[in-house]
Amino acid sequence: MSAIAMSDLDSLLQRYDHSHENLIPVLQEVQSQFGFLSPEAIRHTAEHLNISIHDIFSVASFYSQFRFHKPGKHCLKVCGGTACHVRGSDNVLDALERQLGIEPGQTTANGEFSLERVMCVGACALAPALVKDDTVYGRLTQNKVDRLLNEDAHDPVATPGTGTGHLESIRSE
Ligand code: FES
Repeated sequence: MSAIAMSDLDSLLQRYDHSHENLIPVLQEVQSQFGFLSPEAIRHTAEHLNISIHDIFSVASFYSQFRFHKPGKHCLKVCGGTACHVRGSDNVLDALERQLGIEPGQTTANGEFSLERVMCVGACALAPALVKDDTVYGRLTQNKVDRLLNEDAHDPVATPGTGTGHLESIRSE
């Protein structure tokens, strides 16, 4: 973390008193400002709130909203909810892991993609589905997964404003 980022983090932390109850709001603000929870940010948060680093990891790991790795330029969230699982979401995830060479929670070395496994994204009728950035892609096949990785030619099954596909209306985190 750069000196500037560290001073931004210190300013952020100074807005909160040392109460343990501030942990979740602090982590949310840190992630919002820096994009993820870096080891340095966790260490400073632990010092400020008088909580062990281990406890912060335990709490933050419980909530899928928190990331411990810098996100990629594009974020792929594969739905692992029941409807998607029944319709083969594990195959979709396997294909992405193979092609990107990463596992959920990781980012490709070139910083292009990060991969996550999330619960229902609210598009069960389109199972198996995933969210790439703010767009839902459904009824996924191997071909569609290939296109997703190579596009800029967007080909979402559900488009903004349909009421079924726009992430703003179905965000599940
Ligand atoms: S279970 Fe996948 S979108 Fe609902």
